[in-house]
Amino acid sequence: MSSLQEATALLEQSLRTRRSLLGRTRPSVTRDSLERLTETRPRQRSEISNLKSEMPRSARLAALNEAVRACRQCEHLAASRTQTVFGAGNPDADLMFVGEAPGFDEDKKGEPFVGPAGELLTKIITAMGLTRDDVYIANVLKCRPDMPKGSPGNRPPEPLEMQRCLPYLREQIAIIQPRILVALGKTAMAGLTGRDEAMGAMRGRWFTFENIPLLATYHPSYLLRNGSMSEKRKVWEDMLLVMEKLSLPISEKQRGFFRTAS
Ligand code: URA
Repeated sequence: MSSLQEATALLEQSLRTRRSLLGRTRPSVTRDSLERLTETRPRQRSEISNLKSEMPRSARLAALNEAVRACRQCEHLAASRTQTVFGAGNPDADLMFVGEAPGFDEDKKGEPFVGPAGELLTKIITAMGLTRDDVYIANVLKCRPDMPKGSPGNRPPEPLEMQRCLPYLREQIAIIQPRILVALGKTAMAGLTGRDEAMGAMRGRWFTFENIPLLATYHPSYLLRNGSMSEKRKVWEDMLLVMEKLSLPISEKQRGFFRTAS
């Protein structure tokens, strides 16, 4: 008999004695309830993660967002940010886009891809027959990379900033479990896969991230800088690959977008 069982037996015995002294016939405490009371073992990790995964994705993302909002690992970014930019869209999305980092507009608004590059991404999503509410959009970095005071431009994240912030993106992906990930540009690919190759060599190819198919394509700001039909067509071809993998309907008109007459 373990010491816990001994203690339970003792307690049961003393309750029985007390009951007979008080003249009660029906027990108000049973051995079962006593044993439940003494079940004090700490919850196992697997039980906790089961409980967590029973929580709605929106609640898990909201909890993660709180951690991001409080993050000060990169003190220089925490000091310069207006706010963190967690991510936006459908927590149950099949399709998730991953960009680089918030820029000036995103930092002000607290939402990813709301500046000029974001407008182009929204057009791409619309051309796919979807809305921003159908997909999920996040960045590798949750803070705007700091710029010299008064400077309107944006800079790419530093490796250490990415390294510190990546666990948040990983957790976002683990919660959402999209069927497909699209990496928008080199920084997103470096963050998700560690690859440091030219985008021209990676775009249009499938990779995986934690067993989730991951497609690399150009960042919308690249298209804003180089708006030639041929580059737009390449991104559109990548989106057709995504649509096919998700079994989304594709019209003849959609197939022909940005195709130059030959
Ligand atoms: N560029 C990005 O990579 N992410 C944004 O949110 C905006 C611009």
